[in-house]
Amino acid sequence: MTTLNPEVTQFLSTQPLKLFIGGRWVAAQSGKTFETRDPGEGKVLATVAAGEAADVDAAVVAAQDAFHRSGWATMPVNDRAVILHRLADLITKHQDHLAQIESLDVGKPRAQAAGFDVPHAAQTFRYYADLAVHTRRREPIAVSGFDARTIRVPYGVCGFIFPWNFPFLLVGWGVAPALAAGNTVVIKPAEDTPLSTLYFAKLAEEAGVPRGVVNVVTGFGETAGAALARHPGLKRMSFTGSPEVGRLIAVACGRNLVPVKLELGGKGAAVVFDDVNVDAVAAALAGAVTLNAGQVCCTATRWVVHEKIRDAFVQKVTATMAAMKIGYGASPDTNLGPVVSEKQRSRVLGYLDEGVRTGAKLLLEGGRAEVKGHEQGYYVKPALLAGDPDNVCAREEIFGPVAYVMVFHEEDEVIDLVNRSAYGLANSVWSNNLERANRVAERLIAGNSWINAHNLFAHGIPYAGCNLSGCGGGVLGPETLADYLRNQSIVRPLG
Ligand code: NAI
Ligand code: MG
Repeated sequence: MTTLNPEVTQFLSTQPLKLFIGGRWVAAQSGKTFETRDPGEGKVLATVAAGEAADVDAAVVAAQDAFHRSGWATMPVNDRAVILHRLADLITKHQDHLAQIESLDVGKPRAQAAGFDVPHAAQTFRYYADLAVHTRRREPIAVSGFDARTIRVPYGVCGFIFPWNFPFLLVGWGVAPALAAGNTVVIKPAEDTPLSTLYFAKLAEEAGVPRGVVNVVTGFGETAGAALARHPGLKRMSFTGSPEVGRLIAVACGRNLVPVKLELGGKGAAVVFDDVNVDAVAAALAGAVTLNAGQVCCTATRWVVHEKIRDAFVQKVTATMAAMKIGYGASPDTNLGPVVSEKQRSRVLGYLDEGVRTGAKLLLEGGRAEVKGHEQGYYVKPALLAGDPDNVCAREEIFGPVAYVMVFHEEDEVIDLVNRSAYGLANSVWSNNLERANRVAERLIAGNSWINAHNLFAHGIPYAGCNLSGCGGGVLGPETLADYLRNQSIVRPLG
């Protein structure tokens, strides 16, 4: 076990950690708890309240009450923005604590959590707080014979179910626009990684977010998650995770006619033309597929490389992947931490076996990795496969440090190859011919086409998926704030 920051020790000292409902820290009504592990050690990190339907109901009632009575929904938007900026300040102030918690709970390199996940989430609160201040809440409508205007008001209680790969960053992406618009929220974090969301609730309280505006119910998907998704008190729902669960959420919300935003992962392609600097692209893609141990929904996992440079690319990229420093998240030289759980490791290794059994060739072997001093952790070596585009490893989301190489000869062919995926989240095009790169980028069917880079995010650039990657509006763009405001027309006849 790594040395804990005293603030983190203090946070973990009152186990089991409780639910945050209506501004109070409470045990689950059933008294049940569950354990979250440190995937780098394979050991229990904390015991946490296992919320169920009764707790979710209490949280939704608290959020409804806060929506109608706390003043959050009706306060001047500037005042709400001040509170959200204060929350962002607190996230920044506690950045190291949050990064340590995130690194311990998810397994990710601490430097990544401190350098990206946490500051990016703080920035998301700032972005939506500022955007909310500049969003018109009443538009006059010029129609002859009427005095009319549209007002934009928050909806009410919004539910959020998050996955375990970027727990803290996704809380920012998800709830910041909902809160900035004046809604109240109930959050169900993933059972593998509940800790940073509980810490977030603590900071929201400290920032002066009124009681009941932010509620967190930790627990399992089939119990707490399902109860939230089907709760008739919700006005909007947002889910990030697997397509299988996304379907269940959509069905549950459909029954109540609750609009739902789904972000469901991907099978991103990188199209590499023959005019690139092969070494630089190989380094970038090796980095992309091992980022967060490959547990990144938009990352590049299908590498479609021009036949002329294929061998040089494979040689370089396998050497780079094999040289990655696999290690514990807190070790400063770690490039590649463990995957989140033993279940996820078996899933990744299972895909490798099945891919090879059905005809894919292993160019870099992958498999279990052992890290000295951390033998019980869930480490996996990076792997590279090659073969035809119908192989299971070329089609399905593996969510581990595994890539699949294919070749192409000409432009139309590569576009067909990329677009045959059922997913549609993010692809990249690599070429020094920018005219071609832009042309190809536009023809790839997905929410995001990046050029000469992969995994690019900025506040103000909409990030969303299409097809199996999701629907309902996405995140990070200015429209996302509008998704959390409903229109109401106020009309009077003249004369
Ligand atoms: P999952 O989709 O089961 O979990 C995501 C969230 O949904 C968690 O909070 C979980 O508690 C909740 N959940 C699970 N079942 C639920 C239900 N019946 N009703 C309501 N909520 C429920 O993902 P899982 O099983 O952890 O990972 C499996 C695969 O899903 C991964 O290997 C990966 O391919 C994909 N995935 C994709 C993510 C993405 O960001 N695109 C994130 C996590 C997983
Ligand atoms: Mg954990």
